[in-house]
This record gives sequence, structure tokens and C-alpha cells, in this order.
Amino acid sequence: MTADTHLSEAPSVNGKEGIFPPPRTFSSHAHIGNVDEYRRLYRESIESPETFWGRMSAELDWADPWKELLAWELPDARWFLGGKLNASYNCLDRHLMGPRRNKAAIVWEGEPGEVRTLTYQQLHWEVCRWANLLARNGVAAGDRVVIYLPMIPEAAIAMLACARLGAPHSVVFGGFSSKALRDRLVDCGARILITADGGYRRGKIIPLKERVNEALEGVSQIERVLVVRRTGKPVPMQAERDRWIEEEIQEDDAGCKVTPFESEHPLFILYTSGTTGRPKGILHTTAGYLLGCALTTKYLFDIKEEDLFWCTADVGWVTGHSYVVYGPLAIGASVFLYEGAPDFPRPDRFWRMIERHRITILYTAPTAIRAFMRFGEEWVEPRDLSSLRLLGSVGEPINPEAWLWYHEKVGRGRCPIVDTWWQTETGSAMIAPLPGATACKPGSASLPFFGVDPAIVDDQGAPALPGRQGKLVIRRPWPSMLRGIYGDPEGFRKTYWSQIPGVYFTGDGARQDKDGYFWITGRIDDVLNVSGHRIGTAEVESALVSHPKVAEAAVVGEPDPEKGEALVAFVTLRQGEAASESLKDDLRLHVEKQIGSIVRPKEILFASSLPKTRSGKIMRRLLKELVRNGQIEGDTTTLEDPSTIAALAKEVGQPT
Ligand code: WTA
Repeated sequence: MTADTHLSEAPSVNGKEGIFPPPRTFSSHAHIGNVDEYRRLYRESIESPETFWGRMSAELDWADPWKELLAWELPDARWFLGGKLNASYNCLDRHLMGPRRNKAAIVWEGEPGEVRTLTYQQLHWEVCRWANLLARNGVAAGDRVVIYLPMIPEAAIAMLACARLGAPHSVVFGGFSSKALRDRLVDCGARILITADGGYRRGKIIPLKERVNEALEGVSQIERVLVVRRTGKPVPMQAERDRWIEEEIQEDDAGCKVTPFESEHPLFILYTSGTTGRPKGILHTTAGYLLGCALTTKYLFDIKEEDLFWCTADVGWVTGHSYVVYGPLAIGASVFLYEGAPDFPRPDRFWRMIERHRITILYTAPTAIRAFMRFGEEWVEPRDLSSLRLLGSVGEPINPEAWLWYHEKVGRGRCPIVDTWWQTETGSAMIAPLPGATACKPGSASLPFFGVDPAIVDDQGAPALPGRQGKLVIRRPWPSMLRGIYGDPEGFRKTYWSQIPGVYFTGDGARQDKDGYFWITGRIDDVLNVSGHRIGTAEVESALVSHPKVAEAAVVGEPDPEKGEALVAFVTLRQGEAASESLKDDLRLHVEKQIGSIVRPKEILFASSLPKTRSGKIMRRLLKELVRNGQIEGDTTTLEDPSTIAALAKEVGQPT
């Protein structure tokens, strides 16, 4: 241990010291084993980016070397200009030349219990066959392909097959409804969709193919639906349009030439919630994204040749893109993949899989940890978790109690915890400890990764005073940053680059302590974080008002001990409609059908009117205060009709 002994500020947790230095045994074998080394490299990445990235970019295999590091004209950044590479080549072909050829790329366990292992050689073979199949179906560079699959190896195969052809994929989370799927595939203009006959979750089959059929009703744009047989159950197939992949794919399809693409060639579009009613198609390109993923996987998770890395995220989210597929495979690591629910058939499923497969690194979300805490430690304690050497957390700030439980019950006090702050837009982790170098403070994502230049500013964009809460911004472009919102350049500029001129605005609030550690406090825009999933309040509101009985809706977040936040919806009904318990159920179901089951309002409150400004804007701030405190203390001078608040308070069940 070096300079970290001076660290000061950290709340004690359950009466324990709030600073956890990296275990000596861990540091001595880590890629970066002391904090001075981190600081030296970090300084170099900021002060001499050409030198730093010149060296680091050798982590990838380039068909043509890049010539210019960065062309930056706000808000457009282009990295590694002149370079050419193929993401699928980097994740597969290059590992076939040495001892990694027969190493497991993917170890998969289905929810019913079957296990499949694909070596790099086998994965390469599959990806080539799929790429040839896609090409036969007319997919060429630049074409968008929508992927709607459960967590099966085919999800990674499909993504890499698209990448091989330079066809940007858009993965839609299998928990999203047919309506959400339709919105996304229409927005990105895909002609090809890849799905399955279902997937297992909590013992039931998710009807993916049925949802696809519903999504495509009246949509002619999709010419071909390619279907993976996963469950074997019969599903409705449309003769002209739908094909079983196992019947279409040919044995002699093996081998598929790799075409290198320019660094800035689009790699994927991934939809995420923002502050408007419509999800945004976040666009990532090839070189910068892949390099960001590769480096963070290597250094933050300290991956070694013999590790088995388990990132529990679904590939439908950015975490699954970057840390199930692209990051680990780019560096030739072995990843574990699990199809189903964490508590099926019993609450010890995770721990049994770690025990059985000797998983060494676990990367999951605070909401999952809190669920395990609720199940009780009797499910985790009997299991042999001695293979674990590192733990990770992502998705929301981790509360110190959950951090400590994770550390003690899962990590058995031995494993560093890497709390990674980042976003769909940032592509890869931005603020996180290096496990062999950075002392952890539970609840803080700690220090920036190489090349990342974060700051806390006030509403005017001036640096916030030390220790003060402010807005989290990033002051310079980084390689894996989003390159835009698909089809909406104006929205890109407005959302990220105009609120605080000249810098990237994250939408998060944060403060920085005396040691320079960042403490993320959560979203400060109208985006909620429910069980680590980003949910735009505007999206839920527009789902609610699409119900024939609803006139207006306002959705706010309420702190929830397990989910982080829960949705509370205020609803006014159309003339002549009556409020009832059954209508509440109906509205919940309606929202689920519009978006997906992750979006289920916890509470629905009927109101005769909503508080508005004189210009007619709903004052969510007051509603939030009402659900949190049961009363309003904030400024209500702009309120059009103060009596609405008294009426609402009655509905919430609290006196004003
Ligand atoms: C939140 C997920 C605190 C944050 C990778 C961010 C976090 C949003 C953390 C992005 C963390 C994610 N600590 N907050 N370690 N990780 N967040 O796009 O509010 O699904 O803006 O990306 O999650 O969510 P997204």
C-alpha cells in the first residue's frame, strides 16, 4: 500500500471503518497493484493522450493502424481516424492463433439446468455460420438488425455475426413488450429480426415469438424473422417471413471472411430512456467503444487467463453489451452466462452456479444484492464461494449496508468490490476503483478511469465547491462515448451538450470528497432508477394517457428499500370515468403491455387535477415532495390552483 493511507472521509458502516484498502495478496498479483501507478497512468492519459492511447490501442488488432487520435468538434467526436478493424475479428479470430483456441469463451447455464460450453474455436464457427446466413438474407454493412432473444449463447452469436458484417445490431431486452419492440425496430428501420421460440424465466416460457408477431402486425418493414429453437414449443410462424435458423443454416457455412471497417463504423444502437416520452437510440461505433470495453474489463476486473467472469446483466442492456460480450471476448476471457431468474428454483441459484462452475468474478447490481439480503444469509452461507476473488456492482449507487453484506457474505471479507459508475451513453465504465490499487469507500464509485475527466459543477456550469453536491459532467470526449442519438442530431446536442455549455452532462448528481472520490447521488432529471433499470417518467406517463379512461398522468419516484426507487403515478380520469381498484389493476397491466413488466407502478393515485404552473406544466417537483414527505414545503408560488395540493395530500393520505 502506498499513498492511500492518508484517505480520510468515509462514513463508517455498521460501526466499521468505512475505508477498505485492497487486500495485499490481491494487489501483489493485480495488473495495476498500487495507487501511484494508477495516478501516473491517469495523469498520462489526460496530459499526453497521444502517448497513452498510442500504447493502449495495441490492446486491439488493427487491420490498418490509425493515424489521427481525435477529431473533436462539439458535439461530434471521431477517434482513431484512418484505422480499420473488425470487432468480431477482435473478439474471435485473433484468439484462435494461440493457446486460447480451445479455451471456453462462453459457459452457459439454462434455467432448467442444462450446461453448454463454447470454446473460442466453436464460437467462431457459429458466428461465421450465422454471418453467412445473415448475408444470404441480404444483410450488408450498415443495415440494422434487431435482436430479441433470451440469455442464451445465440444472443452473443447474433451480435458478433452482425458485427462481422458491419451491420449495427439493436438488441431489445426480452422483457420488453411487443409495443416497445415495435417502437424500437421502427425507429432504427431494421429489415431483419432475430428471435427465439421462447426463453425460460422462473419456470415459465417467455412468449418472445408471439410478441414479435404482435409487434409486426401492420409493420411491413421486417422482411425476415430468423428464429432460434430454444424451448421446442410450437409457435406461430408466418410462411413468407419467418424461418427456423437451424433449418436455414448450412453445415458448410463455416468460414466467413472478415472485412475491416473504419474506426467510426457504427457497431450498435441501443435504446434507453430519457426525459422525453420516446426512448433514444444511443449509437456506438467500433474502435473507441471496443477499446473502452477491453481496457476497463482488463483493468477494473483484473482479468487473468484462468478467470471465469460472470456479469449478470442481460445482453438487452448496455452492461450486457460491454461486459458479457464485447469487453471480455475482446481480451480473450471466459464468460459465464445464465438464462433465468436469480431465485429459481430456490434463492441459492446464483451461489450454486458459482460453486459448480468455480466462477471467479461476479459483477451484479445493488438491487439484486438487496434481494439476496432479504432472502436471508442462510441461502448463501452454506455454499462454497472460495473461487470468488473479485466482486463488482453497477446500475445505481450501492448503499453501504448492501456493500458490506456483499463484502462479508458473498466475498467472505476477501474480495475487493469494484463499484462502477457509467451509462449506456458512456459505453464503458467511467468512475470505478482499480481493485489492486484503489482503497474502496462503500457507496462511492471512487476515481475516474484512464482518459475520463469528470467534474462537479453548479447550475451555471462553474465548479462546485469541494464537498458540495452538484451536477456530474465530463469535460472532454473519451473513446467509448456515444456518437449520437440515432436519427436525432439535434436531440443529441440538446440533451448532452447544451445544458452546461461545452461539456457532456450526465443527468446525474454527485459530490466529490476531500480525497477526490466521487459519490453519485442519482438522477437529477426526470429519469428514475427502478431495480437498476432506467425508466423515463415521460415514457410511463405517455403509456398511461394512451389508456382510454385516462386524461392526464404524472409519474414520480418514491424511495424503495429493495428496488432503489418505485413508481408512483398520479392519474386524472376522463369526464364520466370512475376511479376504482379494478381500474388501478387495469392501468398497471396497460403500462406493462405498453412497455414491459419491469415498469409496474407500485402505486396509482387518482386525483381530480394535477398541480400545474400557470403555463400549464405539471409540477412533478411538488408531487415528489408529497410522496416523499407527505407534505409540501417547497415554493408553490407558481402554482396555478393551490387547492389541488390539498386535495392530493388527502389522496396520499397525509394532512398538508
Ligand atoms: C446510474 C448502466 C451510481 C446513474 C451502466 C446512471 C449508477 C444510470 C451506477 C445509467 C453506480 C449506474 N453508482 N449510479 N455505480 N451505475 N448508475 O444507462 O444514474 O442503464 O446515469 O447504464 O444508472 O444507467 P444505464
